[in-house]
Amino acid sequence: MSAPRPALFARCPASVRAVEVGPRDGLQNEPELVPAAVKVAFVEALAGAGHRHIEVASFVSPRRVPQLSDAEDVFRALRPREGVRYTALVPNEEGLRRALDAGVASIAVFTAASESFSQKNTGCSIAESLERIRKVVSRAAREGLRVRGYVSMAFSCPYEGPIAASRVLDVVDRLRALGVLEVSLGDTTGAAFPDQVARLLEDLAARHGGLAGFALHLHDTHRRALANALAGLLLGIEELDSSSGGLGGCPFAPGAKGNVATEDLVELLEGMGIATGIDLARQRDASAGIRAALAAAELKRRSTPGSPSGRAGGSRPGGR
Ligand code: HMG
Ligand code: MG
Repeated sequence: MSAPRPALFARCPASVRAVEVGPRDGLQNEPELVPAAVKVAFVEALAGAGHRHIEVASFVSPRRVPQLSDAEDVFRALRPREGVRYTALVPNEEGLRRALDAGVASIAVFTAASESFSQKNTGCSIAESLERIRKVVSRAAREGLRVRGYVSMAFSCPYEGPIAASRVLDVVDRLRALGVLEVSLGDTTGAAFPDQVARLLEDLAARHGGLAGFALHLHDTHRRALANALAGLLLGIEELDSSSGGLGGCPFAPGAKGNVATEDLVELLEGMGIATGIDLARQRDASAGIRAALAAAELKRRSTPGSPSGRAGGSRPGGR
């Protein structure tokens, strides 16, 4: 029998739902473009490692995020798997139309708690983004899709500084009023500290009668993502987003690095006796596979005469 939990850990959940965002959040910010077949193999490897929710791609402007412009090809090539949810990030009605054409059954919508970031990321205010989301969610409900929502810059913003919890609570209320009941709180630039995470979660729990339906989406820019995840666990959070190998970042948030690495998170959780359902060795293989594909793509580009030696165009930090 395992030893009883220390009192400090009493509210930690027995299991955590890990949401793997590497194929979307990870690859959207990698300089190399990888072929759709490589992305499909990556997603299949993640499902094989035990992931039950994978964010596969986004249906955004291909000019702004060229890395994911083949989202249709990726979704069409994916074999459905019993119990595995493949999600697409969708910004507007056009994105939903494309996603439905590609057979997507689960979407994620996104807004922010920072007006400046909302403008940089989506070219509209928070209120306008919520109006887009209203239209997307209303059609998604008619089509029977599952919907998740993100609130970016939930702790601080590179353009606006610290974000008051009251602003996040307000955006969460507005999302929930639209029927978005699963909400992931984005530390988009990895700037949060554990006490900030705890404060926001306490406020949310007080307002919503607990943390059911909430997730943390922690970027690891300053290597605090695991500490921030632990703060969430101590308060009972049951869903955490992560990215294989810590890939990625947000092209429209200067300096943002990848999400907390899935293998680090799984190792922490399993080591603390919190079940994830993910096979760590197979997870590491999946991360190594996509890293190798990205390295091969870089080598190929550099050795191709006349090819640009810089990053993929259109999605550099701050670029539009
Ligand atoms: P818009 O309002 O049309 O404005 O798009 P725009 O000027 O930015 O549009 C650009 C072009 O995209 C136009 O075509 C549109 O027709 C077209 P062009 O004139 O260049 O020929 N367009 C589309 N094309 C394909 N699919 C669509 C679509 N919509 C418009 N769905 C939009 C608004 C939001 C779509 C655009 O600004 C955009 O794509 N932005 C990029 C957003 C993005 O992908 N950001 C990164 C993901 S969010 C994130 O990483 C944060 C998160 O991880 C959580 C966290 O970390 O906090 C989720
Ligand atoms: Mg993100």
